[in-house]
Amino acid sequence: MASLPLSNVNPLAPEILACPYAFNQQLREQAPVYHCPVTGIYFVSDYDTVVDIAKNETLFSNEFAQFQAGLDQDEDPELDAILKKGYRRVETMLKLDPPLQRRYRSLCQKPFSTSHVAKLQPYIQNLANELIDDIIDAGHCNWMTAFAVPMPVRMIAFILGVPLTDLALFKQWSDASVYRFSAGKTREGALRAAQLTVDFQHYFADKIKARQREPSDDVLSDIVNASVDGEHPMNLEECLSVISQLLVAGNETTTSTFAEGMHLLATHPEQVRLVQDNPSLIPNMVEEMLRLSTPTAQMWRICKAATVVRGVQIPAGAAVMIKFASANRDADHFPDPDRFDVTRENLKTQIAFGQGVHHCLGAPLARQELITGFQVILQRLTNFRLPDGNAPLEFIPNTLLHPPKPFEVLFDPRPELNESPQPSILL
Ligand code: HEM
Repeated sequence: MASLPLSNVNPLAPEILACPYAFNQQLREQAPVYHCPVTGIYFVSDYDTVVDIAKNETLFSNEFAQFQAGLDQDEDPELDAILKKGYRRVETMLKLDPPLQRRYRSLCQKPFSTSHVAKLQPYIQNLANELIDDIIDAGHCNWMTAFAVPMPVRMIAFILGVPLTDLALFKQWSDASVYRFSAGKTREGALRAAQLTVDFQHYFADKIKARQREPSDDVLSDIVNASVDGEHPMNLEECLSVISQLLVAGNETTTSTFAEGMHLLATHPEQVRLVQDNPSLIPNMVEEMLRLSTPTAQMWRICKAATVVRGVQIPAGAAVMIKFASANRDADHFPDPDRFDVTRENLKTQIAFGQGVHHCLGAPLARQELITGFQVILQRLTNFRLPDGNAPLEFIPNTLLHPPKPFEVLFDPRPELNESPQPSILL
């Protein structure tokens, strides 16, 4: 089918956000740096330019909170009244530039370092085994509710010391934060999301105050009481902002890769055979799943001073969208880019976790969850398939993320490997 001229397309239209592949390819081929006349935004889609901009925090700022607020609906007194019952919202990390961003990042990065995360491996393995125990006899499940959602939610809840009884709340709070960027949002949805955000703030404010009074031996205490160079630890609003980022970033994105990863396995039996015959390929397979799913599909930058990028003039103050998902499917960097290939060679250069000073803080945790999770899945289950053949995965339109819709998957147990799943000692 012939594509429309670029100028006739709104890159933020729900149908493009839900299924961006053809449009992104058109952008890469016709205008890798594209000034859209419909939105006024500059869209950057090829691998090299996305990397250059992500690494250039001096010229391209992450301080996009104000611009993003302008994209939201008009002022709404009812919404403001709800938010006033919570705590003042302040920015930390993602929507700040160095040196402030670096300060906040260093205050909370210890629990997410590779060495700390490696200690969580037995917990992740037990959790994955438990989730598979629950579905293995049925031979089918809704993959989102059975595995892709609970795995990261339970991990980040465990890290932040949230009890299992509060897990449902925890997931609702995470969904409420993402709802802000949803392309199909309604006023009722926005009011509900605001109320959930306030609930989240009060829930964690109590826990933060308790850790400020009396630190205990947990990650929340580490974050609440951390200080660098003898400075004060973060105040309550700053702690809430950091925890909210960990909650959202730690949940939605990892869920998306677990979901899209399973869909890829169910539609590529020959790749399943390759990794089951040679499990040492699993880390590479996970990088390939990250490349193809790229759950943080795109991110804002604000251009700080007039510049020219690939021949396109970008004025100071312009909004720029860097498209990580498009860069990860650039044929000049990843040959035959839409193909799922667990043996692909240059996957160390995939950029699902971003680049530069904002490179994902949780990348070691996400990788550990995905590698251990898929190790357990591929060890205990096989013959993954979809009820309706190779039906494509569908997505919920969202400005920044690319969340898959729920889907059903069928599978068989691998009897020879299912005799004695590890007992859960940590849950
Ligand atoms: C598959 C899973 C994940 C993906 C694809 C992902 C992707 C990303 C990307 C692309 C960025 C950079 C955004 C930018 O350049 O503006 C980022 C930043 C960030 N991520 Fe992740 N993320 C994942 C999982 C996690 C997890 C598990 C956590 C924490 C528990 C986390 C915490 C963060 C934080 C705090 C930032 C902001 C860092 C900063 O601005 O300095 N992410 N992530």
